[in-house]
Amino acid sequence: MKKTITDSTIDADVLTYTVGEDPVLDLALAKWDCMGTAAHVTMLSEMKGLKRPIVTKAEAAKVRRELGRIVKLAAAGKFEIRVDDQDVHMAVERMLTEKLGDLGKKIHTGRSRNDQVAVDVRLHMKDAILATETELLELASELCSFGHDVGPVPMVGRTHLQPAMPSTVEMWATGHAEMILDQLANFEAAYQLTDTNPLGSAAGYGVPLPLDRKRTSELLGFSRPIHNCFGASMARGECEASLLSALAQLMCVLSRLAEDMILFSMPEFAYFKLPREYCTGSSIMPQKFNPDVLELVRGKTAQVIGWQTAALTLLHAMPGGYNRDLQDAKLLYMKGLETTRTTLRILAKVVAGMKVNPDVCRAAFTPGVFATDVALKKVAEGMPWRDAYHAVRDQFAALYEGKDAEVANLDPDRQVALKTHEGTCLGIDHDLYQQRISAAAKSAETRKLALETKCRALLK
Ligand code: ARG
Repeated sequence: MKKTITDSTIDADVLTYTVGEDPVLDLALAKWDCMGTAAHVTMLSEMKGLKRPIVTKAEAAKVRRELGRIVKLAAAGKFEIRVDDQDVHMAVERMLTEKLGDLGKKIHTGRSRNDQVAVDVRLHMKDAILATETELLELASELCSFGHDVGPVPMVGRTHLQPAMPSTVEMWATGHAEMILDQLANFEAAYQLTDTNPLGSAAGYGVPLPLDRKRTSELLGFSRPIHNCFGASMARGECEASLLSALAQLMCVLSRLAEDMILFSMPEFAYFKLPREYCTGSSIMPQKFNPDVLELVRGKTAQVIGWQTAALTLLHAMPGGYNRDLQDAKLLYMKGLETTRTTLRILAKVVAGMKVNPDVCRAAFTPGVFATDVALKKVAEGMPWRDAYHAVRDQFAALYEGKDAEVANLDPDRQVALKTHEGTCLGIDHDLYQQRISAAAKSAETRKLALETKCRALLK
């Protein structure tokens, strides 16, 4: 049997099982837990309509100072959550009580761990979404620079993986960059969902005290309180699932980029070359330089999709109100977040180091790649499209019998230069990407600073 703040006697195995990985995972919540507590205590000290204040303004200031000290300890890696604490919330209450006595015992007035953990996770998630967005933008920017530096080097465009039409390395790189940039919309949706405040919903049904939920929202930098207390308790897990969905979808996009990089850097293609130091060897085959890092991007995508599925499965049959299963939503999104962020950083590095073999890219153009261009030339000369299509189909049959010199002499660079409309070979607008990237980076930075300012104001 064990003794904790909430349970006078609890079976040691049951305690370990229910606590799970919280003593480690919750370390990442320490700062946000202290911020939430600082806002709650400040609001308690300002609460009107009571015979006597639950905590005075001076006492609230004392608690905030002590919370500031705990945040510093956590930043220095000296904050500890014991199994007996169960989680970060009880660890902070224990430390405040050790230092401040009865005042420490008052901080949990009108609050439950249910709204407390919900608020911690939301603050952690807001910060993490903005950090992920910044890393996403860095990868997109790396791909744009890669495309810009290489320029319109001809590259065979493919459909069904078969040679299709003239394209460029620049279009390949910026196309992937744009796919990644478009993923920001999903992260912004997750951010919107996260930017509302559950604090004050307590165990999910409110309390008979005149809590000011708008005040804590303002102190913590949330757009507004989640109005319905029961709704606030049910919203736990939904933010995590929404973020995991954005993460899983982004990983799918990254996995496709990785797959293209594997394909086009394999010796049979050799359009691209991965730096040796980013490849791994074999224990038996001395000649090997394998793209393991890119294969693991594919592999980790499977994991993140798995965690997203786990989060939705966790929620789909859960009854209303708090249930302890929700603790696992935290584990799932933290794993998904960490894996995706590491992947964004490693891909930015590999893309930056990747080299192009322009001559190999040009040599890969078989006559068939020009077929549509030849047909469109006939259209420009007045032939209806379908007639031009059939003429070229016949013309290419002759070509393969060695009879069509005109088609055989087509040049990849010249054909690429004929494609100039928006978004094609010579129509890639780098300024457009730069503007999108810098506007999104600025927006993330501004919000990150605003959150930090709120945090510093509460925890001087
Ligand atoms: N560690 C718990 C969680 O993440 C904290 C909330 C515990 N609440 C409760 N009613 N047992 O869900």
